[in-house]
Amino acid sequence: MADLMDLARAAAEKAYAPYSGFRVGCALETAAGGRFTGVNVENASYGLTLCAERSAVCQAVSAEGPGLRIARVAVICLGHEFPPCGACRQMLAEFALTGGATEVTFLKDGRLVMRTLAELLPEAFQLA
Ligand code: THU
Repeated sequence: MADLMDLARAAAEKAYAPYSGFRVGCALETAAGGRFTGVNVENASYGLTLCAERSAVCQAVSAEGPGLRIARVAVICLGHEFPPCGACRQMLAEFALTGGATEVTFLKDGRLVMRTLAELLPEAFQLA
């Protein structure tokens, strides 16, 4: 079975990023074992741009329904390094494992690093 990061890297090749040139791919695995990918989809009206992580979440929810939980996430940008942006962290938090235990892997200084979502987004917003 392909590594989650390999899936993310392959997905990034399909990104639609004519404005920034940042081709981002995301792959996630759900608690049910489903695997889904997403890419960033930019728009001439820049603010409408959709990040790869949120794109992957939409794919997963569309396939598994509202009860899905995200177990693991991998994200990569071809030629650049960054962790998920704040908006994506919040969207991942909506479907994270209990306590924010979802594992998020990304590249930093040329190495893969893993953080839990709770580490990336402590005290995430939620409707009490
Ligand atoms: N981008 C993502 O896909 N994920 C992130 O977490 C941060 C940024 C995309 C959005 C835009 O198309 C490009 O990267 C540059 O910001």
